Amino acid sequence: MHSRVIVTGATGAMGSAAVRALAAQGHAVVMACRNPGKAAAVRERILAEVPEADLAIRPLDLSSLDSVHAFVAGLDDGPVSALLNNAGVISRSYALTADGLEHTFSVNYFGPVLLTRLLLPAMPADARIVNMVSLTCRFAEVTPESLSPAEKDFSQLGTYACAKLALLRFSQELARRNPTLRVNVADPGIVGSDMIELGRWFDPLAKVFFRPFCKSPQRGVRPALAALASDERGQYYVGKRHQAFPDRYFDPELDLRLWEATDRILF
Ligand SMILES: NC(=O)c1ccc[n+]([C@@H]2O[C@H](COP(=O)([O-])OP(=O)(O)OC[C@H]3O[C@@H](n4cnc5c(N)ncnc54)[C@H](OP(=O)(O)O)[C@@H]3O)[C@@H](O)[C@H]2O)c1
Repeated sequence: MHSRVIVTGATGAMGSAAVRALAAQGHAVVMACRNPGKAAAVRERILAEVPEADLAIRPLDLSSLDSVHAFVAGLDDGPVSALLNNAGVISRSYALTADGLEHTFSVNYFGPVLLTRLLLPAMPADARIVNMVSLTCRFAEVTPESLSPAEKDFSQLGTYACAKLALLRFSQELARRNPTLRVNVADPGIVGSDMIELGRWFDPLAKVFFRPFCKSPQRGVRPALAALASDERGQYYVGKRHQAFPDRYFDPELDLRLWEATDRILF
């Protein structure tokens, strides 16, 4: 099956690895990126390795709801058979976007949710949607109130984990509402990308002592690629395995409350 796949954060470590792998499988890939110059360089690099790759670059800044709307409005009429919500960020400090959303939540949650919801009409009923989550989800809690954290409640990893958990809960509710869509999440483990540099004094130490033990981006993205190729739905992909969403995340009532609170913010 050759089809059109949208990959967000296609300039990043795992995003570019995903684009390369999908292009090599024969899929047309839309590289959704906030930095066109960086995206062009990634595209050239992939074309050197996969000359037949069909790669389009389209601007997308997930910290701007207008940019998400413009991205979807600018797509041609062709169907989108799969979406990999891969872009993510661990914001160093508390900041609000022009939409008044906390920045970490905008990029990791609100932007991907809006993108997914706006793309649904362009997707066939059995389209694949894969959302990148994180093992940090298991240490987080999310409620409708935590979608808009106050500055005093912000913490670099805590807010990131909370936003990723919100994305996981959105995935569960999306799967529930769309029984034919193949909605899955992928957890890459700990990957040696720029994302794990937290802008702290210990970054140089971590680079020497920690990063060599992290997974490569090519390995980290495997669960997402497996999910994109799969006919399964409602699965949590991690390592070489997949399973139904773990019981610890089972709370349909909370998923619904988050969906409705998100609707009030986005629409
Ligand atoms: N690395 C890990 O250990 C790890 C673990 C668990 C989950 N994850 C998740 O895996 C995904 C990929 O991470 P990675 O390790 O490959 O990180 P990465 O190399 O830092 O890539 C992140 C990507 O997100 C893009 N991005 C950041 N802010 C954006 C915005 N406002 N609008 C649009 N795109 C934006 C970046 O664009 P630029 O190139 O322009 O900066 C980049 O392409 C993320 O969702 C991350 O949360 C990573």
